[in-house]
Amino acid sequence: MNKTDKIISMYDKYVMNTYKRVPLVLEKAKGSIVWDAEGKRYLDFFPGWAVSGIGHCHPAVARAVSIQVKKLVHVSNNYYSELQGLLAKKIIENSFPGKVFFANSGAEANEAAIKIARKYGHDKGRYEIITMAKSFHGRTMAMITATGQDKVKKGFEPLLAGFVHVPFNDIGAINAAINERTIGVMLEPIQCEGGINIPGVDYMKGLRKLCDEKDLTLIFDEVQTGMGRSGKMFAGEVFGVKPDVMTLAKSLGGGLPIGACVAYGKFQDVLTPGTHASTFGGSPIVCAAALAVFDVIKKDKLLANTNKMSSYLKGKLEALKKKYHFIKEIRTIGLIIGIELSIKGEDIYRECIHKGLLINCTQDTVLRIMPPITVNKAEIDKAIAVLDKVLAKF
Ligand SMILES: Cc1ncc(COP(=O)(O)O)c(C=O)c1O
Repeated sequence: MNKTDKIISMYDKYVMNTYKRVPLVLEKAKGSIVWDAEGKRYLDFFPGWAVSGIGHCHPAVARAVSIQVKKLVHVSNNYYSELQGLLAKKIIENSFPGKVFFANSGAEANEAAIKIARKYGHDKGRYEIITMAKSFHGRTMAMITATGQDKVKKGFEPLLAGFVHVPFNDIGAINAAINERTIGVMLEPIQCEGGINIPGVDYMKGLRKLCDEKDLTLIFDEVQTGMGRSGKMFAGEVFGVKPDVMTLAKSLGGGLPIGACVAYGKFQDVLTPGTHASTFGGSPIVCAAALAVFDVIKKDKLLANTNKMSSYLKGKLEALKKKYHFIKEIRTIGLIIGIELSIKGEDIYRECIHKGLLINCTQDTVLRIMPPITVNKAEIDKAIAVLDKVLAKF
């Protein structure tokens, strides 16, 4: 039995079987490269489900964490710590005036967002949140209810009351769903899990206007799209639209677990002492890591790199589209890339992994590619060469 098989058999015996895993044991990583337990090297164009947004084991993150881990690891939230304050300040300075609540994951950040909307509407008997078909917001009970995909809800009913789903990118559907109980609208500015679905600017601006007119909380789930991946720091900026509440996680911590719920203007003080909490939320370690991520994005001009590499990669993919009739459409915003196929993508993505390129497939027919925003042309060329070779087999 090799090392990989040994580790997988340990999982089979001791780890709950909740994931459809690729039989790959990852052991170390650097930037866009990961190595498995047998020493094989892979180009990672879907690093940790978009968690390692500035690449794996970024030296600035490693440095910040290793300094902090020797100084103070955890501060409970009945005290103060400088790094939590500094990170909140950094997020606000990079978006709009407001305040931040720190959690440990995307689903938890979204829970806080829903609680803000519900508390805001509570005295008026308004609690209903409109979310989108094909959305994904996490796996807690409230978030599987919010998510617009039946597969995450099956077997867990009864679900939470107070969520309504409408088609994405359809302002009329939102208008029709609003009633006297409605308090908010929650959406990913670009649906990722749902197949890389990019809404129109008019829709997003219309949504802002509608929420203002009806006094609704507009919540952007930027768990996957935030932190530069769209070519802007936050994807709402792509459409020129400011949310009332924004949630972050994934790449915010440079690989460490962190979630943040950011509330703006009149929503920033809705949660009051005793109404929400997290034991681990905003610990000095994860805040040190996230501050390093912001520094790297700025110092290394990674927003500019994202936009440059986005055009380069898009050009290469459009060339592949001309070559392979089963590529229906390429959808890109920054380094959020969906390749819509007219055939199933599962075998293609597995073959890419076999050939040393880690990508993802979502909604059965969409290859999802999200390289680190530090990616360069040479890495893109290598990835395209693998993809071309694999596609030629189908
Ligand atoms: C848009 C979005 N929201 C929320 C989540 C849930 O995040 P977590 O798994 O950290 O709870 C995800 C995870 O994929 C996501 O993509």
